[in-house]
Amino acid sequence: MGYYIVRGGRTIGGEFAVRGSKNAALPILAACILAEDEVVLENCPHIRDVSLTLEILQELGCKAEFSGRTLTIDSRSLSKTEIGRDTVRKMRSSILFLGALLGRTGKAVLGHPGGCAIGKRPIDLHLRAFEKMGVVVRERDDLLDCEAPHILGYDIYLDFPSVGATENILLLAARAEGATVIHNAAKEPEIVALAQFLRACGAEIYGEGTSDIMVEGVRKLHGAYFTIPADRIEAGTFLCAAAMTGGEICLKGPEREQLEAFERAIERTGCRLEWESCGPCLRLRPPKRLSSGFTLATGPFPCFPTDLQPLIMSLLTLAEGTCMISETVFEARFSHSAELCRMGADIRIDGRNATICGVKRLHGAEVSGKDLRGGAALLAAALAAEGESIVHGSQFVERGYEQIEKAFASLGGDIRLAE
Ligand code: EPZ
Repeated sequence: MGYYIVRGGRTIGGEFAVRGSKNAALPILAACILAEDEVVLENCPHIRDVSLTLEILQELGCKAEFSGRTLTIDSRSLSKTEIGRDTVRKMRSSILFLGALLGRTGKAVLGHPGGCAIGKRPIDLHLRAFEKMGVVVRERDDLLDCEAPHILGYDIYLDFPSVGATENILLLAARAEGATVIHNAAKEPEIVALAQFLRACGAEIYGEGTSDIMVEGVRKLHGAYFTIPADRIEAGTFLCAAAMTGGEICLKGPEREQLEAFERAIERTGCRLEWESCGPCLRLRPPKRLSSGFTLATGPFPCFPTDLQPLIMSLLTLAEGTCMISETVFEARFSHSAELCRMGADIRIDGRNATICGVKRLHGAEVSGKDLRGGAALLAAALAAEGESIVHGSQFVERGYEQIEKAFASLGGDIRLAE
C-alpha cells in the first residue's frame, strides 16, 4: 500500500493536458465484448481500473493490447462468460460485463459487486430492467447466474437516473429483438460517449444525453475506431488543486458543456474561468482569497457532480465564509471530511449535509484516503497546507488518476509516491 509525501505551500499552475475519462473508458471496454471485430480505442488512461478491466477481457478469452494510449481489443476469441467474485468485488464497474456478455452470448455469471466506501451501491435497477427484457437472474452463493435465450426490447422506467443501470441496459438492448426505451435515463457525458461508441459499432441508438433513450436492436455489431473523451472529473480535480494553492492553470482537453455546474460553483468562490480557443483550453485564475457563503447540492448530470464533491469540499476549507454541501447521490461520501479536519479544517457533518467554515490555513498531517476522490481531495489539501503531509491510500487514487504525483509535480507541486 503506497502513500504520498507532500510538502505543501507551493502553487500548482501552468499547462496540463487532461487524460482520457475513466468513467467513459470502463463501459466502452465492456462494450467491446459486443463487437465481433477488432476495436481500436485512442486516448485511454493508464489507470488501475483500466488495467483491471483489461485483465477481465483477457480472462474471458479476448485479446487486449495497450501501446502508448492506444488500446486494441479483439473479442472474436471470447471463450468464457464467467467473472469471479473477487474480481467484481475489486471493481464495481465490472457489473457492466453483465449486459455485454448477455448481449453477446445470452449467458453471464458474475460475482455480486457488493458495496464500497461511499455506499451500499445496489444493482436492483440493473436487474429489474434485465428481467423485463427476458433475462433469468438466479442469485446463488453470492453469484449472479444469468441466462437470456431471447433478449426482448422493452419500455424501461428507471426510479433513479442511475449511470451504471443506463449503461448496462444500453449494452443489453443493443442486440435485443425489437426496440428498448429507457425513461429517466442518466444524462452524464459518459452515457453519450458509450452511445457514440456503440453507434460506431453499428448500433441504432437515439436520444443519448436526454432522459429518454431509444435503442433499436440489431443482429450484429462490428468493430470501430474511437477516441475516449477527456476526463471531466480529472479536469475539476486539477482546477480545485490550482485554486487552493493560488496557482493559475490552463487545462487542455475538457469539453465545455460537461463542466457547467462545476464552473458555476467554483466561480462563486471568486475564481475566474475563461475558455480559450487554443484547443479548446480552460484557464482558471484564482482570487487573492477564496470566498464561500453559498449552498451546493450534488445530483445527477447536469447538476454538480458527486465525484467532485470531495474536491470542492477541500477547496472550501480555505474559503472565507461558511458553505453547506448536500450529497444527494451517495449515502456515505464524506469520509474525507474527518481527514481534512486533522489538517485544521472546520467541517461539521449532519447526515448527508456538510457545513464547512473556511479557515485561513491548513497544516500538514498524516491522513488516509478511503476512496478514489476522497484521496484526491486530501492530496489537493496537502499541496495547499503548510508543512509536510503523508497521504495514505494511493491504491485508491491510482484507480482513477494516471501518476497523479507526477502530474502535480509537473505543475510545481513538491509531491512523491512512496511504496
Ligand atoms: C458511476 O457509478 C460512476 N462510476 C461513479 O464514479 C459516479 O459517482 C456515479 O456514476 C454517479 O455519477 C463509474 O462510472 C465507473 P449510479 P454508478 O448507478 O454507476 C443508486 C468515481 O469516483 N443505485 O448512478 O455506480 C446508488 O446506490 C465513481 O469515478 C441504486 O439504488 O452510479 C447511488 O446512490 C464513484 N440501484 C445512486 O443510485 C441501482 O441499481 C447513483 O448510482 C443502481 C444505483
